[in-house]
Amino acid sequence: MEQLLPSAAARTMTTAKNTAQSSEIAGDRAPRDIRKTALDPDFWYPVAKSKDLKSGKALGVRFGGEPIVLVRPKTGNPFALEDRCAHRQIPLHVGQVSGDSIKCGYHGWSFGRDGRCTSVPYLDLCTMKPNCVRSYPCREAYGLVFVFPGDAAKAETIAFPEVPRASDPNYKTRYLDGRIDCHWSFMHENLMDMNHQFLHRRIMGGVKTIFLGVRHGKDWIEADYSFRRASGKQPLGEKFILGKRPAADPGDRDLMTVRTEYPYQTLRFWTAGSEHPVLDLWNVYIPQDKKQHSNHTYSLIMIRRPAIPGLINLLWPVIVWFTKDIFAEDRWICELEQAAFDAQGEDRNQEIFPAIRELRRVLVDNGRPIEP
Ligand code: FES
Ligand SMILES: [Fe+2]
Repeated sequence: MEQLLPSAAARTMTTAKNTAQSSEIAGDRAPRDIRKTALDPDFWYPVAKSKDLKSGKALGVRFGGEPIVLVRPKTGNPFALEDRCAHRQIPLHVGQVSGDSIKCGYHGWSFGRDGRCTSVPYLDLCTMKPNCVRSYPCREAYGLVFVFPGDAAKAETIAFPEVPRASDPNYKTRYLDGRIDCHWSFMHENLMDMNHQFLHRRIMGGVKTIFLGVRHGKDWIEADYSFRRASGKQPLGEKFILGKRPAADPGDRDLMTVRTEYPYQTLRFWTAGSEHPVLDLWNVYIPQDKKQHSNHTYSLIMIRRPAIPGLINLLWPVIVWFTKDIFAEDRWICELEQAAFDAQGEDRNQEIFPAIRELRRVLVDNGRPIEP
């Protein structure tokens, strides 16, 4: 491992939320197969972008195989219900939003915010007492709609994720999301393991990764890296996000810190000598099916605006193109990993990188077994 240079070392110490150090890395002692581990539902998870949930409309989404309907009444906050009518199990999202309720598209039963049936158009509710549908705690923030898919009684006691730079005027946020056909743990591993720059060689050229260290606790882990260009030119997209990077080691290093704080993941990048990160990424991977072999990735890429007003808007199309291409390569490789797991029926990875071995421990220990 190369030595931390003074400025990078100081920044690491002041920016790390938790500074517990560990030189001892856990071995392969996972009590269960990481790819057969479910994400703990007792957290707040985004399930849609706000702009995709139109006023007076409903949207069908999923969490770990559970169908959820998001409803945005014409007035008031959105709400979330089980996406199955209590009558004949028709998805409610194909129905109609009416006032503060959603009306099933088949016989027109209405369900309110709390999931209670408020009207059966052709019978007296008082005598029939139809069943409710489940309701989920729902909140909207950072341009995303969040639900709490686990035990609703815990929703108020579990911290809502904090993404302060999403509304910081010094940053512009690029929203990147999409379905990826792999278990969510592959995504955490992909971002945490910066040794995969070889995958991005066609876009990035030759980049040497310098691993600086790792810290971890019960439900978190973070790793520090720096980089050096070994060959080729810096791509334009990276230059617009991070600024012009020197070709050779300048003597003071940039610093990247990747952190999984279960169940969320962040990546921050400071250029040498800078006080604020030029890049702040917040990611979360939402399992779609019951086996959790597919996920919907939500990524907020918060980029610090250059000093010249409006310049970032000019650079934006290149930034969008660059991040889309990197994301496409990561998606491709993670889906290949899932295909190998599917063919072999178990996780046979030989993981030797300490940060990833410890990350796997965090993801397994804080997860749950997938129900058969
Ligand atoms: S199936 Fe929903 S009202 Fe009949
Ligand atoms: Fe990547």
